[in-house]
Amino acid sequence: MGSLDDGTGRPRIHKGLDDVYVKETRICLVDGVKGRLLYYGYDIRDLAKFSTFEETAYLLWHGRLPNREALAAFTAELAANRPIPKELVALLKDLPKNTAPIDAVRTAVSALGALDPDLNDPSRTANLRKALRLTAKIPTVVAAFHRIRNAQRVVKPNGKYPTATDYLRMLTGKKPDKRTARIMDVALILHADHSMNAGSFAATVAASTLPDLYSCIVAAIATLKGPLHGGANETAIKALLGIESPERAGEFVHDTLAAGNKVWGFGHRVYKTWDPRAIILRDVAKELSGRTGNEKLFAVARAVEEAGVAELGPKGIYPNVDYYAGVVYYLLGLAPDLFPATFAVARISGWVAQVLEYWEDNRIMRPLDYYVGPKEAVYVPLDQRT
Ligand code: ACO
Repeated sequence: MGSLDDGTGRPRIHKGLDDVYVKETRICLVDGVKGRLLYYGYDIRDLAKFSTFEETAYLLWHGRLPNREALAAFTAELAANRPIPKELVALLKDLPKNTAPIDAVRTAVSALGALDPDLNDPSRTANLRKALRLTAKIPTVVAAFHRIRNAQRVVKPNGKYPTATDYLRMLTGKKPDKRTARIMDVALILHADHSMNAGSFAATVAASTLPDLYSCIVAAIATLKGPLHGGANETAIKALLGIESPERAGEFVHDTLAAGNKVWGFGHRVYKTWDPRAIILRDVAKELSGRTGNEKLFAVARAVEEAGVAELGPKGIYPNVDYYAGVVYYLLGLAPDLFPATFAVARISGWVAQVLEYWEDNRIMRPLDYYVGPKEAVYVPLDQRT
């Protein structure tokens, strides 16, 4: 049992599952050496330039780009499924106002499962219906909760608009201009999938016991939340906002590392070079900094990037997607604690793809842990214990 390959008779322990492959996939390639990211063979740079979130989600679920009719039908179905049940709005209203949006989404997905008549239908067609409902409703949930916690009127979805436009409209109460909506669309495309990351793995572990799709997504959202994963965008922006000026960037990086801390938004298990998503988002952040007049934040981010790459680049540690995503979302006017939830608005498409692919050839996930505790403990009755 286990892989006895460290020469001591003990199994080799794959801490953090480093370098462990758990399935074959056709969905997503992360090339950590060349800094490339492909969805079904399509380069993320092309998708960011030419695609839309709807088209990308279709690609992830069906393995091919849709034709015009298929895309129109898929977009319309998503829009039609965007409204959320009144029971869910009531539940969101009952949550404490200081609930983090990512926690509200996790709770809402659980409730949506309970409300879905297809919950326990395991067929692929039912799962695609559930996937569509989830992908459609998560933006509405985030926006509704955000407005409820700020004592604002909940803005209902408008089926005329695609996901990115409607998400921003429901959050702010104002329809975004075309370019702003496109920037959100690009951010959603960039965050749609990323192979067997921690959140997708959590979804896959849950999936492997054959529960319903909602349960898998709850596991994924719970895992995305952490600052080592999708919570890094929020942690990173908070750090950047605390830096007085670009001139203090070197000192910030130095002090952070000297204290044994991490520079948030830097580093990746797979990329040992630039994350291509960070490069795209850096350009977007630059554009937004000019448009919004908040040039200081971008200048600070660039200066920390330069100081961080100088220190950490030789170890293969570079900015990841969360670094500039945080800057982009902030310049779009989103509150920092909305960032992880906004990540979920996009990543739901990838989680679904990963779970459906795993179910094509399911096997329960059951790794081992190597027992190093005592083996001959003698039970002492409670009244005789000191
Ligand atoms: N800042 C400073 N040092 C770092 C950083 C960082 N951001 N990331 C890694 N290192 C260092 C570690 O301290 C460690 O150094 P050591 O060998 O001297 O002990 C070495 O690099 C290896 O780091 P690990 O944490 O073991 O690398 P791992 O592959 O397990 O972790 C991770 C990857 C979790 C992303 C890590 O780089 C990190 O914590 N980054 C900051 C959080 C972050 O930005 N997460 C978002 C990732 S992208 C995403 O999930 C969407």
